[in-house]
Amino acid sequence: MSFYIPCVSNNRTPIDVAVVGASGTVGQKVLALSTHLPWMRITEIAGSDTRANTPLSSCPWREVLPMPKALSSLPFCTMDDVSAPYILSCLPHDVAEIYEPLWAERGHHVFSNASTFRMFPEIPLLVPEINGHHLSLIDQQKTRGKRVNNPNCSATALACALAPIMTKHPVRHISIVTLQSVSGAGYPGVSSMDILGNTIPHIPGEAPKIVVELQKILGSGDQALGIPITVNVHRVPVMYGHAATIHILLDQPARDVADVYRQFNQTHPIFALHDGDDRPQALRDLSHDDMRIHIGPIHTAALGSDASVIALNILSHNLVRGAAGAVLANLACFLGHGDVLSRT
Ligand SMILES: NC(=O)c1ccc[n+]([C@@H]2O[C@H](COP(=O)([O-])OP(=O)(O)OC[C@H]3O[C@@H](n4cnc5c(N)ncnc54)[C@H](OP(=O)(O)O)[C@@H]3O)[C@@H](O)[C@H]2O)c1
Repeated sequence: MSFYIPCVSNNRTPIDVAVVGASGTVGQKVLALSTHLPWMRITEIAGSDTRANTPLSSCPWREVLPMPKALSSLPFCTMDDVSAPYILSCLPHDVAEIYEPLWAERGHHVFSNASTFRMFPEIPLLVPEINGHHLSLIDQQKTRGKRVNNPNCSATALACALAPIMTKHPVRHISIVTLQSVSGAGYPGVSSMDILGNTIPHIPGEAPKIVVELQKILGSGDQALGIPITVNVHRVPVMYGHAATIHILLDQPARDVADVYRQFNQTHPIFALHDGDDRPQALRDLSHDDMRIHIGPIHTAALGSDASVIALNILSHNLVRGAAGAVLANLACFLGHGDVLSRT
């Protein structure tokens, strides 16, 4: 089983949830994954004005997992008509900028995928297993409704991979190279003529976004992490799954790195450790509901007697761990049961 979500009692009365941007790449994944979660029910969906009053079944379904039967006749409402107390926002950043603060003013709790407000100090950039305590930042929000953000899809997986190492070792520098799939750009994404048979060593705005978001997620909540991080990104001709190579420079010899992840898994079972030199691979190892962080063979090298470097590869599903699963996990965390994960 690869789908994990924070513990919320399945016996509680289901909460009513609206998914906005429901027709998009992330929105459709949210709808598909929601069928695993009896503690919530999707009562509203919204998208562009032209979709208003048309059923979900009329929308082109590009998600690999099936469209939930129970939702197929649910009509799209307009953005102004959204009334559910909990809103999962899968909107482009410019649309999120208009609506998310408005909904919070009106008393709705908003869980956002968009980048617009991620760096606002009073908005938690939440990965429940890593920085669940940052949720307390919502106390600084003046609105009746509260807002929580999930990070950039690469930053989420990178934060998960880095946090356990940082609790065990003094880190001097982190260097990251990402290989990001085309679904990370939404639909229709990168032009096929640009990406087929190619790798593009640039995604507009992505590298600095990953740096500042990691500084916030791995920091104390009030203060950034403060350890230098350098990032290079690539778009690669892969449909789903963002990979990355991480080099972590330590001020001491590296010890038992795989064990650090195994220990973490005892409370939060989120890491899949691979032994084969040629794994993890997007085609072989990722499932379509995959919340795991896959970690490839780990290498270490001594740099003199008092420093060392850890090198490892990671892979995660950008639409699940990096987006739809993340926003669902943050909703569960907000509901107050969230920083202990269990298998569903
Ligand atoms: N793709 C990823 O891996 C990923 C990961 C993390 C975060 N994110 C973030 O998640 C958000 C959604 O990304 P995506 O990849 O799902 O994008 P997408 O496939 O382009 O979908 C965008 C959605 O927003 C809706 N929308 C666009 N303009 C609108 C408007 N004016 N009013 C109401 N709805 C509007 C679209 O509805 P219509 O179909 O009706 O136009 C569609 O449902 C973005 O902020 C993105 O940065 C994406």
